Amino acid sequence: MNTNSNEAAGGAAKLRTAFCGLDFANPIIVPAGVHGRDGDVMAEVGRSGVGGTCTKTIVSQPANDVLPCFSSVNSGMVNSVFGSDKSSEYWFTEGIKRAKEGGAKIIANLAGFTPEEAASLAESAVNCGADMIMLPTHCPHMGEILMAMFPGMNFPEPSLTDVAPMQASVRMIKEVVDVPVVVKLSGTYAHITKEWSIGVKESGADGIACADALGPALSIDVRTGQPALGGPRGVGGLTGPAIMPITLRMTLDVAMMSGLPVIGIGGVTTADDVLQYVMAGATLVGVCTAGHMKGLEEYQRLIESLAKRMDALGISSLDDVRGLTIRRIEARKADGKVAVTERIIPRVKTENCTRCGACERVCAYEAIAVAVAVAGQNAAAIDLDSCIGCGLCVSVCRFDALEQEYY
Ligand SMILES: Cc1cc2nc3c(=O)[nH]c(=O)nc-3n(C[C@H](O)[C@H](O)[C@H](O)COP(=O)(O)O)c2cc1C
Repeated sequence: MNTNSNEAAGGAAKLRTAFCGLDFANPIIVPAGVHGRDGDVMAEVGRSGVGGTCTKTIVSQPANDVLPCFSSVNSGMVNSVFGSDKSSEYWFTEGIKRAKEGGAKIIANLAGFTPEEAASLAESAVNCGADMIMLPTHCPHMGEILMAMFPGMNFPEPSLTDVAPMQASVRMIKEVVDVPVVVKLSGTYAHITKEWSIGVKESGADGIACADALGPALSIDVRTGQPALGGPRGVGGLTGPAIMPITLRMTLDVAMMSGLPVIGIGGVTTADDVLQYVMAGATLVGVCTAGHMKGLEEYQRLIESLAKRMDALGISSLDDVRGLTIRRIEARKADGKVAVTERIIPRVKTENCTRCGACERVCAYEAIAVAVAVAGQNAAAIDLDSCIGCGLCVSVCRFDALEQEYY
């Protein structure tokens, strides 16, 4: 039985989520990151109410990180960290056991240099109580930093399209564990999502997580001209809201192409972000950078606001909206509406309009006016001749005062 506060955290029964045969108190998990750095922190994350929490990547030989290793950038952060700095022995003797005290499901994120090593790590993690195994597949900054740290050793950049090593690891892990095995795609596969979706499906994995950081990414300190992070070029992986439009699209593709249960990860900060991932087909949703930047309380706030937002939108169960966007896309195709060029003029919901002016400011066609009130009009007014139906005003309105029905 869960001892965490997930029921209290706004977590009405409607948030309970089944994933690969496991029962999660809600769909929010914390994927590998600083809040998976040791068992005690993971237990605290679990007590904050999340459905699942994940170790930092467990490796057989932890290496030091180059420093500095974190930098905040617009809409996210870049980081140059590797896997867990704790030994695998720590994780398999006490780390996972302590993590379980938080009451959330425990996901062991791990990587081996060979499939045999990955299988051995996975077996030990499960023997210690891990509920699920997650296999990361690529890290955008790792190769060049390892080469700088260990000159003379050969760390060839992996071919991004080669799914065979992942498949070999999954197959060996599946032989020795009976918990779900989930493969985590890298954000660097954004242009080859299809190949990876099919590759993971063929490997026999139980699910796909999508995605890890994008990159390599760079941030520069203009006071010194130095790259913000350590390492040869100071590059790292980009995470946070900046990556969400891409990782969300990857999630949709993965769900459509693999048919496997999906964990959507990347840039989540709000309940609407969570719902977008669920509508794209995700069952669980990961939140990493938001908790990193704002603290543990962020997870509970998100779970509570998800329950409230579902009420406001009339969504009684996540099952009802899971994959809704996939169904919408299929309907577009079935109805021959894949290249609509007729204007779809937004409708102003006058009762919601505060005349804040955001829509008027972004309209490049001078087609919407609030600052100069149109006679007798207390809300934004759209000039039907000038409006081209681009949709930008609808997307910037924070008061749900503009509506554009696709068709
Ligand atoms: C500081 C930090 C450390 C991370 N460490 C790992 C890791 O060890 N293994 C891994 O698979 N992903 C790691 N990630 C990636 C996250 O699990 C997640 O996939 C990514 O940050 C995107 O989600 P977000 O935008 O919510 O942060 C890390 C991310 C951050 C920000």
